[in-house]
Amino acid sequence: MQIHPIKGLKGRVSIPGDKSISHRAVMFGALAEGTTEITHFLEGADCLSTIACFREMGIEIEQTGDCVLVHGKGLHGLQAPSRTLDAGNSGTTTRLISGILCGSPFASTLTGDASVQKRPMNRIITPLRQMGAGIDSVKGNDCVPLKIQGHALHAIHYQSPVASAQVKSCLLLAGMFADGCTSVTEPVLSRNHTELMLRAFGADVRSEGTCASIAPDPRLFAQKIAVPGDISSAAYFLAAGLLVPNSEVYIENVGINPTRSGILEVALAMGGNIEKLNERTVSGEPVCDLLVRSSSLHGVTIDGDIIPTLIDEIPVLAVMAAYAEGQTSIRDAAELKVKETNRIDTVTANLRAMGAEITAEDDGMTIQGGRPLHGAKLDSYLDHRIAMSFAVAALCAEGTTNIRNGECVNISYPDFYRELSSLSST
Ligand code: S3P
Repeated sequence: MQIHPIKGLKGRVSIPGDKSISHRAVMFGALAEGTTEITHFLEGADCLSTIACFREMGIEIEQTGDCVLVHGKGLHGLQAPSRTLDAGNSGTTTRLISGILCGSPFASTLTGDASVQKRPMNRIITPLRQMGAGIDSVKGNDCVPLKIQGHALHAIHYQSPVASAQVKSCLLLAGMFADGCTSVTEPVLSRNHTELMLRAFGADVRSEGTCASIAPDPRLFAQKIAVPGDISSAAYFLAAGLLVPNSEVYIENVGINPTRSGILEVALAMGGNIEKLNERTVSGEPVCDLLVRSSSLHGVTIDGDIIPTLIDEIPVLAVMAAYAEGQTSIRDAAELKVKETNRIDTVTANLRAMGAEITAEDDGMTIQGGRPLHGAKLDSYLDHRIAMSFAVAALCAEGTTNIRNGECVNISYPDFYRELSSLSST
């Protein structure tokens, strides 16, 4: 993908559906009684992997563009898949489905692409085994492929060593098939879409501080879900609107759940000119529109409890930091190493290639901002968030940038480049 610098970014952009919420709507719809109607579903490859897995387990799912009908069969209605379930590039599919498979009375095998095959599954295997689950890493490396023999589970209280919504959600889903109340306490609260949505489907889910719990054997009932726009996708237009001179971008329909909206706080603290407009609630999630104007940014420290609320936005925050005056320090973010790529390494490699001064740290990075960046030959490393973050970086660099395998944006934002060029003045 070739990206040229632009003179300004102007206009309106409507953000595609939230990836985390789209996955969950399909999964919970499959386990509910009746037909769940999802609108503004994210037609990204990750969410399509979730649909494919549930179809493989006998759930009829009709998809017409971003409208999806899931004909649920109730908590105990899934059928044994006749083939290996393929989660593609999606860590969310892999980890959340594992919780459901461990409680469903059949054997299954779950795998994913080369990236997912490197991601740690011990974070779910360990607690699932404490619940009595039959789950094994086929290659014995704590990664997928996973072989699962489902059966009834024991309730546990799990003290998670990581703030991870995928771990928490996996265990809450497994907890539906347990013999008592299952709970998970995290070191810091991670995104809470599972808790909000499962409650709406009828489960008895409670949240207290960083602890979430679920009562067993709920009856789930089909819902109508309008998926809010994904703040993680909005982040690229927010960053581009702030960084590119002469820009004014109106970003419609952005989910601003406080467990996801850390990027807004940080962008404001960096000096960003951002207005939140039309705040409203859509399907139980807070949503607004954002008006973003070109701004002079300055460096900040990003660490501590805010990290889980912006973990997926750190690559684009690093790009903003490279163009901001002064130093930005990002710490407490070792989770970056186990995303679609090791994002400490991939951000560092690409920012350096563009001439930025950046030091990789064990749990983050330090960036000395304010140097002009130049176009370069970059790699997405097949990581959608790296591709989009560096497309933004390229808009204000000197000269042309080439991003190898830039088409991997189809994981979470298939129309990304089209939207970006429709707002760009050259
Ligand atoms: C997600 C949780 C986060 C996030 C991922 C989506 C989810 O991962 O990075 O993109 O939908 O639950 P972790 O749970 O590993 O932090």
